[in-house]
Amino acid sequence: MTTVIDGKAVAASVIETVKSATKALEAETGVRAGLAVVIVGDDPASHAYVSAKSKMAKECGFLSVQHTLPTETTQEELAALVAELNSDPSIHGILVQLPLPKHLHSESIIQSILPEKDVDGLHVVNAGKVATGDLEGGLVSCTPAGAMVFVRRTHGEDLSGLNAVVIGRSNLFGKPMSALLLAANATVTTAHSRTGDLPAVCRNADILVAAVGRPEMVKANWVKPGAMVIDVGINRVPAPERGEGKTKLVGDVAFDECAEVASVITPVPGGVGPMTIAMLMANTIIAAYRKAG
Ligand code: GUN
Repeated sequence: MTTVIDGKAVAASVIETVKSATKALEAETGVRAGLAVVIVGDDPASHAYVSAKSKMAKECGFLSVQHTLPTETTQEELAALVAELNSDPSIHGILVQLPLPKHLHSESIIQSILPEKDVDGLHVVNAGKVATGDLEGGLVSCTPAGAMVFVRRTHGEDLSGLNAVVIGRSNLFGKPMSALLLAANATVTTAHSRTGDLPAVCRNADILVAAVGRPEMVKANWVKPGAMVIDVGINRVPAPERGEGKTKLVGDVAFDECAEVASVITPVPGGVGPMTIAMLMANTIIAAYRKAG
């Protein structure tokens, strides 16, 4: 029997822990955790993600601040907002939603966030800590941290002897995911668009993680029988079967056929997605505790 991971349920349990920690911090120190989310422009998908993050922050009991800036915002204006949030003592976490409009330089904005407030884990200081195996001192990027919760629930803390393949090498996901699996003693391959014979590489994986942004690219014959498959893709595709002009979300994994071969698999939606938000809340309360303590 294949286990389909219920990401919503796992995320809900993380959120309950965050809510308790938020109350405890406030009771002990009078400090209320604060999260600022910044969005520039009017991309509808980004707005939906950001609203979900702001709403969850409120539910957790945080001070939740959303800054919605117009597409024409200049680099200087955005940098000034980040500087203001960096020095605001009521804000413990800052998230600048990506992608930013093309005329803005994302990297310099992300690197201008104070590392201790970088709840996305994208600052080089935090990315560097993950890369060097220091998982306690910094803040770990939310989606890979969420995927690792699933891995630990299935395989425990120690992945010795297991082969993991991560398809995708982005700074937001692929690189930190590979580093986290390596820190847990897995033997890790980071595959990408230039990898030769990708299906054969994937068939070697006891843990296969797909983050490429290509709808249903991973097929059943890429999956080692009994493997764990984690799908990080969120792709909107036409769904004429649901009516004219309708769309649906699918992952990077052809779910139905891969579920026949895998022992554990995450669905899209309802797998890794809810965990990203939950881990963002977890990072924010961690940042608030560090500041208070
Ligand atoms: N855009 C898509 N996912 C993310 C994320 O995790 N963080 C930020 N900042 N932007 C994103």
